[in-house]
Order: sequence, then C-alpha cells, then structure tokens
Amino acid sequence: MTTIDISGAGKYAEFGESMEKRAFAAHERLESGEPFTGWLHLPSRADESETRRVFEAADRIRQSSDVLLVIGIGGSYLGARAVTDVLCPPPGNSGTQLVFAGNGLSGAYTDRLLRYLEDRDFSINVISKSGTTTEPAAAFRIFERLLERKYGAGAAKRVYATTDAEKGALRSMARERGYESFVIPDDVGGRYSVLTPVGLLPIAAAGADAAGFLKGAAEAELSLGANDMSNPAHKYACVRQAMYEDGKKIELLAVWEPTLRYVAEWWKQLFGESEGKEHKGIFPASLEYTADLHSMGQYIQQGERTLAETFLWCEPTGKAEVPFDENDGDGLNWLAGKKADEINRTALEAVKRAHIDGGVPCLEINMGPPDARSLGGLLYFFELSCALSAYISGVCPFDQPGVEAYKKNMFKMLGKP
Ligand code: PA5
Repeated sequence: MTTIDISGAGKYAEFGESMEKRAFAAHERLESGEPFTGWLHLPSRADESETRRVFEAADRIRQSSDVLLVIGIGGSYLGARAVTDVLCPPPGNSGTQLVFAGNGLSGAYTDRLLRYLEDRDFSINVISKSGTTTEPAAAFRIFERLLERKYGAGAAKRVYATTDAEKGALRSMARERGYESFVIPDDVGGRYSVLTPVGLLPIAAAGADAAGFLKGAAEAELSLGANDMSNPAHKYACVRQAMYEDGKKIELLAVWEPTLRYVAEWWKQLFGESEGKEHKGIFPASLEYTADLHSMGQYIQQGERTLAETFLWCEPTGKAEVPFDENDGDGLNWLAGKKADEINRTALEAVKRAHIDGGVPCLEINMGPPDARSLGGLLYFFELSCALSAYISGVCPFDQPGVEAYKKNMFKMLGKP
C-alpha cells in the first residue's frame, strides 16, 4: 500500500483546519458524480466480461507478435509505458515487446521504427479517445501501410483500436475495417484512463500482471475511500497546496529507480494538465536520483527557493553489492560488502536532510515493492490526490482547454481545410 511521510515538509505539514475542510469538500465533490469522475470507482466496478475480452486479445497478440506497436499520445500511452517499464524491464523480457509511436512527429524516429518492424511480426494497438489526434492518426496511417504490405488481407486482424464508444474517426474506421475494438468510457479522461483498456491491453500484451495491477488499484480505491485526514491522498493534496500557496511553485518528483522514470512522466502529465490552468498550478518536474544530483543537485540545494520535492521510493529488490578488493586501488574498501540498494537508501536520507536544510520541503512516498499490485495502488493514489489538489486550488482537474492553442496554429500553418 502506498504511504506518505510529510514530516520533511516542516511548517507545511501543519496545513491547518481550513485546508482540511477544503480537502473534505473536494472529496465530496468527486463522489457527487461530477462529469469525468468515472475513474474514481473504475477498479471496483470494472466490467468483468470486458476485462476478460481485453486479456484474451492480449493472449492473441502474444501468440502472433514479437512486437506490439502502441500508437497514442499523452494519457493514451504514458500509463502503459510507466507500468511495463517497471514490470518488464529489458534485458530479460521474454514477452511481446512494446514499442511506442504517435507520441511525437519525428520523421527520423518513424523511419527507424519502420526499419525495425520490417523483419518482425507485429500488431498495432492504436489508442485515441477523441479518435482524431494528429500525432497518433498520422502514425497509424504510416504503420498500417506496413502492416498491409506484410500481411495483406490479414492486416486488419492485427489492429486493435481503443477509442470512444461512438464518436471519432478511429471508431468509424474500426467499424468499417473490422478491427477488434475496446471502449474508453465517456466519463474517464485520457490521463485518468490507465485502468481502462487504454492501459490494460498493452500491459497484458507485454506479459505483465495486468490482473494484479487492477487488483492493486481496487484495494487502493477501498483504502483511500475515507473522507478524513487518515487518507494519505488527502495529506498529499493538502500539503502540496499549503506549499504552493506559500510560494513553492515547482514540485520535483525524484525517483530512485531508473525503471520508475516513466511513472514520473505519467505523473507530470496527470498533475500538469489537471492543475495548470487559469494562471495557476504547481509546475511538475521530475528527476532521477542519484544521477540528477550531479546535474540538478546544485540548483536544488542553492537556487531559487520556489521548490518542493517528493521522493518516490520503492522497496529494494537488488542483490548487487560492492566487492572487497585486496589492493584497494580506488580506496573504496570502506564500502565493501554494502549492497547497492543500501547505499541508495542512505543517499536518499542524506539528500533529504541536505535539501530540507537548504530550504526545500521534502515529502516521501513509498509505493512498496515494485510489483503490479503496488503500481495499481500507486497510480490510483496519484489520480485521487491530483483531483483533490486541483479542486482545492479551484480549477477543474478534468479539462485541458490550453492544449488546443498549438493545434490551431499548426493546423492553420499546414493548411488543414
Ligand atoms: O489527458 C488527456 O485527455 C490528454 O492528454 C489525452 O490523453 C491526449 O491528448 C491524447 O488524446 P486522445 O486520446 O484523444 O488522442
């Protein structure tokens, strides 16, 4: 179960009764059935027959394909990437390999991927709630050509479309061309959709424990349901807003395992798109420790004091340790016999103390072991905390009107009719 330690937040850990009341009101609002809150009870109310259909499709993909090309952008790919990076990290992943496209517009990347897929058996999972987003639509058109060239009439059987039940070009194409398709519920927005087929199909196809992931989220839904201050999601939301209202405008999520990097990317989208509007919102940034202590550490210790930091820790699983060396040429025998993970944890304690002393409040989130259940619990914890935090700050967590501005310009420049 995800836990949070806010003792390193100093005065902000005492956020006071009025902040608590704002959190209670936010939670009530979420439970009152406002639009786009379908994710709140998604884990416990998942349609079992639909979940089974997702897992059966995943099995078919695993039997027929070395690679599953996941085409999507933002909330339509980050969740699956985050979970599979932890559960199926290379090397040693014997399952179907996931590769991602449609999350950018680079021609060179697309060329490389076309070459890579040329000699491999692959299927495509194209994911777009709106069914009209330019980046995945363009990528799908390109890679579907390759699929047709390789598999002829059998190509359509290798396309799995995850989209809205009724609306959008992707839904129409799925109907016309006979793709197997999955529905993103109306009341679940992109960045809150990892527990729908958006996340579950690629996670299961990669050979990760998608059922365990869903179970962990259902357990979190139950344990984080209480509208009181024992709820760690409330604590996180309240302390974030207390820090923000006192000038801590940037939150750094620091991960201590490289495989958690995409969890941080997913977290950035979740919080950035949910809170950054009406000229408000904590800017979410991410770091990978200890690597980034040697690039960003100086700034964090002594730069602008607008930072707050959240460490994301998972229970260590590594066996590697520093060996003893007779000659001790590098003078490192003082570390001999210590596990890398033990040193990593000591580094966390040392960094936390240094940053707190330097004026950066530090929170610590412990997700438990880096397994499917913990990940389900962690992502649900973040979704709930994020929605509460946005409501506390007075913005709607479920829209993203600002994303349209660049699209308008780009369409005009490209001559879209
Ligand atoms: O959270 C969101 O709604 C967005 O970030 C979307 O996930 C992203 O823009 C992709 O949209 P779509 O799934 O409609 O292609």
